[in-house]
Amino acid sequence: MDGEGFRVRGFRSDDLNRVMLINTECLPENYSTFFYRDLYRRFPKTFVVAQADGDVQGYIMCRIERGLSKLKSIRPARHCHVVSIAVREPYRRRGIATSLMLEAMRNGRQEYSATECFLEVRVSNDAAVRLYEKLGFSKVKRNFSYYLDGEDAWVMAKSLEEDT
Ligand code: ACO
Ligand code: ZN
Repeated sequence: MDGEGFRVRGFRSDDLNRVMLINTECLPENYSTFFYRDLYRRFPKTFVVAQADGDVQGYIMCRIERGLSKLKSIRPARHCHVVSIAVREPYRRRGIATSLMLEAMRNGRQEYSATECFLEVRVSNDAAVRLYEKLGFSKVKRNFSYYLDGEDAWVMAKSLEEDT
């Protein structure tokens, strides 16, 4: 999936240093190399990067999980849980995160039979909340003091069962 001036493709092992750099540049939630490698080993199709100007400028990584539906009560679901998404500042507002989300949701559904996509986001993160709302996500729950610094998270979810 490509957009204006960028290309979305699957993560490769040699992208790891660059992805970790973007993560620490953009987000306070950071992870070990083991964590990234383990997610990639288990769910390679929903680990996606965006390339522009000859380098990776954004990423998304997800975990496929079984659980109860977050949208319909007492229904089993297979979730595509967006663990982390970020786009480097100079490359924002060109649709890169939208393309990363669409590609991960499409692959989550097609490759892993995910029925819902969900994520946690800081209640103060207006840019990200708007991105998800624009993609059809709704706020389903508030997780109090979800983050290490005490901030609350919105849990946001979207069904993958109808066409997106
Ligand atoms: N202010 C208001 N609305 C915004 C903003 C903003 N700064 N950024 C995005 N949006 C909304 C807009 O509706 C936008 O559409 P428009 O440009 O046509 O108005 C829509 O989202 C889509 O924007 P994209 O261009 O696809 O998003 P972008 O590539 O800029 O990336 C992201 C958005 C990922 C939130 C980026 O700002 C970022 O990396 N932020 C820091 C890291 C972060 O917060 N990641 C998400 C944490 S939650 C999690 O990881 C599960
Ligand atoms: Zn999870």
